[in-house]
Amino acid sequence: MSTSQQHVLIVDFGSQVTQLIARRLRESGVYCEIHPYNRIDDAFLAAYAPKAIILSGGPASVHWDDSPRAPQRIFDLGVPVLGICYGQQTMCAQLGGAVAASDSREFGRAEIEIIEASPLFAGLSPNETVWMSHGDRVEALPEGFVVIAKSDNAPYAAIADNKRQFYAVQFHPEVVHTPCGAQILRNFTHEIAGLGGDWTMAAFKDKEIAKIRKQVGAGRVICGLSGGVDSSVVAVLLHEAIGEQLTCVFVDTGLMRAQEADEVVTMFRDHYNIPLVHVDAGDEFLGKLAGVTDPEKKRKIIGGLFIDVFEREAKAVGGAEFLAQGTLYPDVIESVSFDGGPSVTIKSHHNVGGLPARMNMQLVEPLRELFKDEVRNLGRELGLPPHFVGRHPFPGPGLAIRIPGEITPERVAILQKADAIYLDEIKKAGLYDDIWQAFAVLLPVRTVGVMGDERTYEYVLALRAVTSTDGMTADYYPFDHKVLGRMSTRIINEVRGINRVVYDVTSKPPGTIEWE
Ligand code: XMP
Repeated sequence: MSTSQQHVLIVDFGSQVTQLIARRLRESGVYCEIHPYNRIDDAFLAAYAPKAIILSGGPASVHWDDSPRAPQRIFDLGVPVLGICYGQQTMCAQLGGAVAASDSREFGRAEIEIIEASPLFAGLSPNETVWMSHGDRVEALPEGFVVIAKSDNAPYAAIADNKRQFYAVQFHPEVVHTPCGAQILRNFTHEIAGLGGDWTMAAFKDKEIAKIRKQVGAGRVICGLSGGVDSSVVAVLLHEAIGEQLTCVFVDTGLMRAQEADEVVTMFRDHYNIPLVHVDAGDEFLGKLAGVTDPEKKRKIIGGLFIDVFEREAKAVGGAEFLAQGTLYPDVIESVSFDGGPSVTIKSHHNVGGLPARMNMQLVEPLRELFKDEVRNLGRELGLPPHFVGRHPFPGPGLAIRIPGEITPERVAILQKADAIYLDEIKKAGLYDDIWQAFAVLLPVRTVGVMGDERTYEYVLALRAVTSTDGMTADYYPFDHKVLGRMSTRIINEVRGINRVVYDVTSKPPGTIEWE
């Protein structure tokens, strides 16, 4: 729990955007935790002692049989409560109001008009744009409530019982499409609940270190290092928490970027003095991938090999009871639906997921509650060098998913060279930090060209660069054509095997960031 003891409880009813509530609160320095509505009982509430409570949105209707309800005790604790969307509806239903299925459903942007002054709306204009996404709507208010804002389709867009400090909104203040939303949430936590906003990444770090020590005891932990920001932050955090009980394993798959393996090994072993096992498994990975062209098969083979290598290394260090992973909050949300069922698989994202079951290991996942940019802040807090913390994400399967078609050592070498030049040019142009992720893709297509007086027949290289905040949606980066021209000329001049360069201008959706 928070060191400041000023924590907010977010009761989750399964909205796709619940985690954004947490994000907005933490951005304003307020510690909070999200807990599913059905895991909260009186004992939990007594132990957690929330200073304020937010009821999230969710896919249910209060008219369904057995639809989710907030634990009734929440309304007797004497702390401020804010209901959002479904949270508003269940709050109304539970406090004696009425909720009806609306004739006109309201999705997307809407204008609200603030009709009653309220501390929830301090600093807002009389008319504000908000993002709605609901079918049901409140029809009759519980006793003590008044309407504080309305929209064309929602006469009870926001309601309040000032005496009990209960507030509820039909729209989603947590999404960026509600521009005044962060202010509304801040008003709730800082002004209404009186929280100081003193939660920091330093406090999170201390809390996680204590949690790791408690979970692990005197046990051994192994941690897979990929060279990416997430696993590096996990490793440094764990090392700070449990020192020598940690062994890091860096698996060089032969599918890393140029120089990557050396950089990682040098940094961890020499700079941080963290015990690191460097496994050179390039031949094994490339051998198993020979002749495989199907993207999902590639991912499965790589995932399986990671598990094999880890299992071997875990045995070699005398067995480990725990496996540390850099699972982030979006991974938790993206891969598990509210009721625990799997969501649709677009790609089998690689992690070492099969290992814990096979070896009876427990997972240590200290970043589970964090977003990527928060992980970077934590990395800074832990003293990781800025250039390392700011690195673009790199996928576990590495260059394998950037070589559509067959993967051969020759193709990997061509791609490594071209990718290094591409990133070098991006850095020289001062654009690296403006871009979420940039990489090259070697296509299994040859085209005809002319160099000097010679005919060439060589591969096509695609360049990809995207902006994003979390990797879940992305836009292609609008490079200046001069920069693109320079990249293309250098790559074709310096890398044998490539005679044509193209730029990928697809957003996500409909594309994905990686090509496979
Ligand atoms: P996609 O291609 O799904 O990628 O739009 C979204 C983000 O996830 C990264 N990615 C992966 N990361 N293991 C990882 O650790 C994987 O298997 C994997 N596949 C994609 C991708 O680089 C992008 O940042």
